[in-house]
Amino acid sequence: MIIGVPKEIKNNENRVGVTPAGVVELVRNGHTVYVQATAGEGSGFPDDMYAQAGATILPSIEEVYGIAEMIIKVKEPIESEYNLIKEDQLLFTYFHFASHEPLTNAMIERKAVCLSYETVERADRSLPLLVPMSEVAGRMSIQQGAKYLEKPLKGRGILLGGVPGVRPAKVMILGGGIVGTNAAKMAAGMGADVTILDTNLARLRYLDDIMPANVNTFMSNEYNIRELLPTHDLIIGAVLIPGAKAPRLITREMLKEMRPGTVVVDVAVDQGGCIETCKPTTHENPTFIIDDVVHYCVANMPGAVPYTSTLALTNATLPYAIQLANKGWKKACSDSEELKKGLNVVQGKVVYKGVAEAFNLEYTEVNSVL
Ligand SMILES: NC(=O)c1ccc[n+]([C@@H]2O[C@H](COP(=O)([O-])OP(=O)(O)OC[C@H]3O[C@@H](n4cnc5c(N)ncnc54)[C@H](O)[C@@H]3O)[C@@H](O)[C@H]2O)c1
Repeated sequence: MIIGVPKEIKNNENRVGVTPAGVVELVRNGHTVYVQATAGEGSGFPDDMYAQAGATILPSIEEVYGIAEMIIKVKEPIESEYNLIKEDQLLFTYFHFASHEPLTNAMIERKAVCLSYETVERADRSLPLLVPMSEVAGRMSIQQGAKYLEKPLKGRGILLGGVPGVRPAKVMILGGGIVGTNAAKMAAGMGADVTILDTNLARLRYLDDIMPANVNTFMSNEYNIRELLPTHDLIIGAVLIPGAKAPRLITREMLKEMRPGTVVVDVAVDQGGCIETCKPTTHENPTFIIDDVVHYCVANMPGAVPYTSTLALTNATLPYAIQLANKGWKKACSDSEELKKGLNVVQGKVVYKGVAEAFNLEYTEVNSVL
């Protein structure tokens, strides 16, 4: 198959859809890979690494879309890319269709085959192509939180791990899923006093078993959250209710119970946030302060660490990309329920129920397009 890897042109996106190591694997499987010039630069992979791996470098995005049967990228195509997409071309990337009507309509019109990373789903309902970014964001939340606790950045001026003779900071993590667990590991490793709250008792039992001694678990409810707020220095928002807005666990009025300089990192900001005062920020301007509480609410945290994020993402996507390239999308999706769940818009038809419902579009059963 002919595979194209365009450069991401969405604002501040430095990741790339395939690494040089991925090119080697695809070429070994008999495929031809075209990479747009400088596509990997933001992630630390210059063109000559791709060329050595066996890819051909093309100077323009038009040439990459023009030649490829399958496009592998990271973010959804932006408006200037719509007209480059060809009928029957397979696009393997994040789309997040249900929150983007113009994109959905454009992909229907282009009659492309859109396989979305975010809806590839395992039998246990886990989302293998979302997990790596949650791992990155979870780990990064502590790194950022520790930084914003510093006095010059308007925090309380407390060192996360303390020092001998001085207590460490207290970290409260709302949600013990992928983000929360990765945050807890980092905070615990730095020596903080960590509490994870979740509504899922089975999950709390599991975390209690595997986490080190400086991590405690606590049932998530309003009473318990109010009890912890006045004594905690760093609060991580990491809750998720699949398919719904994040629950508001900390209201504006509750901010008054926190000490000045407390830092809140609301990772769940992409689902509306679990802190009422949260609103999305960017890496250029990541924080704002309300009632002396520092809010960090960057909606695309992994974007700041493109080297790690690209490798983490492509570790997860490459095995699927190889299946798609080796078998073609129809056979690959017929053989794999996981991949089939990734199909959203196929040759002008909406085959993912959530997307059809979001915009009142006609829904076509996915098996009928295979
Ligand atoms: N900002 C970013 O850059 C970024 C990056 C990756 C993920 N995220 C977001 O982070 C959030 C968490 O993702 P995840 O992968 O960890 O999800 P997950 O499904 O693995 O974990 C969510 C956890 O929240 C728990 N939960 C639900 N309601 C709760 C409540 N009321 N109180 C406490 N816990 C509750 C669930 O039981 C679950 O354990 C999502 O909104 C995701 O989109 C953001």
